[in-house]
Amino acid sequence: MYGMPPDQDAQISQAADALRRASSIAVLTGAGISAESGIPTFRDALTGLWENFRAEQLATPEAFLADPKLVWEWYAWRRQRVALARPNPGHLALTALANACSARGAGFTLITQNVDGLHQAAGSTDVIELHGNICRVKCFERQHVIEQFDDATGAVPSCPLCGSLLRPDVVWFGESLPEAALAHAMRAARDAEVFISVGTSTLVEPAASLPFLAVRSGAVVIEVNAGTTPLTAAARFSFRGQAGMLLPQLVEEC
Ligand code: OAD
Repeated sequence: MYGMPPDQDAQISQAADALRRASSIAVLTGAGISAESGIPTFRDALTGLWENFRAEQLATPEAFLADPKLVWEWYAWRRQRVALARPNPGHLALTALANACSARGAGFTLITQNVDGLHQAAGSTDVIELHGNICRVKCFERQHVIEQFDDATGAVPSCPLCGSLLRPDVVWFGESLPEAALAHAMRAARDAEVFISVGTSTLVEPAASLPFLAVRSGAVVIEVNAGTTPLTAAARFSFRGQAGMLLPQLVEEC
């Protein structure tokens, strides 16, 4: 599907070499790694029921306040996609990489902007979730996580403690990221000898700064993406193609 530049195989071997030698590796993933599991990315045009919207119009506190049912339904639709989704070879390759690091005593940190839990479903542990998790909900007013909610009625459920509306426990545009998770991710980016950025448009801050932080700290930065991004020119290696094909190739060789 994607044209593979002729020297990409040789470059993959070089990148795999760097991975094999690194004493610390950090990985940042975005929606592209889950695309092959059937979860639409954010900057692809929305389809079906949602084709007249952009993600930015639905993923804000203001949008929720203006039309809670619309926003809730969009997330209910995404939650259904997530419930049906299975990890793909890209997610599994990162679990294998973490295990290989652990076996040889190297550090490994997996940071994701995704809210779909597919890294954990692939067996990854200690995943830093920068943007929350779509399967959890929290109270809109008081922000506490609510363990159980009724997704069957289609109506926006209320907080059992205070009666305000429940919302997905994800970070919306204009909101801050969980502080500890972001601090951990920044430390990992700064300390990494090799940093892999997979399937992210590298447009949404502050996550978009993490690979650049790694570049400035002297890491070998490897990008895996179907297209080019603002990181492409700064990365030591930038591989064009599908994460589900390229990551297994990289990890098998290292
Ligand atoms: P985007 O939708 O912005 O970008 C997806 C990236 O994945 C693009 O660069 C595509 O080229 C690439 N891509 C698509 N399919 C791929 C595949 N099979 N293999 C490799 N790459 C592929 O998604 P994110 O960068 O994750 O935030 O978006 C960042 C944040 O913006 C999201 O976490 C979300 C969104 O608004 C919040 O909800 C706060």
